[in-house]
Amino acid sequence: MAYYWRSAMIALAGSHRARSWALGSTLSSRLARRYVAGPDAAAAGTRTETLLKDDGIRASLCFLGAGGAVADRPRAHVEAAIAMARELAQRGLDIHISMDPSWAGHDVDPIAGLGHLRRVAQAIATLSGGRPGTHLLMLGMEEADRTDAILDLHRVLAAEGLPVGVTLQAYRRRSEADLRRLIEAAAKVRLVRGAYPAGADIAFTTQAEIQANWRRLIDQIFSSTARDSGFRPIIATHDHAIQDHALARALANGWARGEYEIEMLFGIRDGLAGERARAGACMRLYVPFGEDWWSYTWRRIGDNPRNAWILLRSLVMGGR
Ligand code: FDA
Repeated sequence: MAYYWRSAMIALAGSHRARSWALGSTLSSRLARRYVAGPDAAAAGTRTETLLKDDGIRASLCFLGAGGAVADRPRAHVEAAIAMARELAQRGLDIHISMDPSWAGHDVDPIAGLGHLRRVAQAIATLSGGRPGTHLLMLGMEEADRTDAILDLHRVLAAEGLPVGVTLQAYRRRSEADLRRLIEAAAKVRLVRGAYPAGADIAFTTQAEIQANWRRLIDQIFSSTARDSGFRPIIATHDHAIQDHALARALANGWARGEYEIEMLFGIRDGLAGERARAGACMRLYVPFGEDWWSYTWRRIGDNPRNAWILLRSLVMGGR
């Protein structure tokens, strides 16, 4: 069931006709406000500053696109990421940028994509200039046939000493082995559930199996060996029970605050994020910005049907 729901929402996310209707409609600004910080780097910088000042929550910024010709999109994504990095530097905030490698054209032309992502990582390194904080280019994980290419890309950039991390998916059967190698390499890894439809040959498909694998991977992540290697994990989920498990394992194995983070998507369970931050957890929100919110929003609804209700409520009742 989850497989078909997610596939349908991803198809809608990719529909050009529905997208151009919606981006031109009056609903657009209200829908976009729910999950998106604003149209540009300045608006996203202001939102990031407010989150830190009011709630003690840090952010990872992600550019959604601004439409335009397909051939120009990789360049537009890279320029927007670098503009965002400058904005964050000027405000003295963490320069933490999230990007899916295909947005930089890595799926079509791996060499050019590597060059684009290297530019973003170099800009982060230069603009952060040794300032305290977590300054990072976090690579998203995409469909199953892209996993090896994205892990290779991460290995190349990390070997160049650039500030880069990579995402692993808790629903993939291979993640335990990938995680072992990344712990040995003292990498920075964001663990998410996995958003793309995938069959039982490569992924755990029932909620019970996925939850069990989340817990196995979290136990592996918060081992004392991982802590001593300098490995830096980010547990990215809206599932409070999985968050509780991670926080308990970290505490039991002597991980200090600041050596790991819990991350959530802006607009999904902000109340929970605030509660966790007030209780002393290091929280980060993944904060999208840009005008092209259509595909991102349908992916969130594909993640969990509850998110459709969150959106509907904000449309009917107003507010963010
Ligand atoms: P999931 O939807 O699996 O729900 C599990 C449980 O959590 C529910 O039963 C409920 O108890 C609780 N819950 C979840 N949502 C709730 C809500 N809205 N209200 C109340 N309770 C709720 N994916 C990917 O494939 N590649 C990537 O690079 C990324 N990147 C990424 C970054 C960050 C920061 C996040 C948070 C997520 C991603 N994702 C991703 C998306 C991810 O794979 C996944 O699709 C979503 O996070 C949904 O899975 P969850 O584990 O959050 O909860």
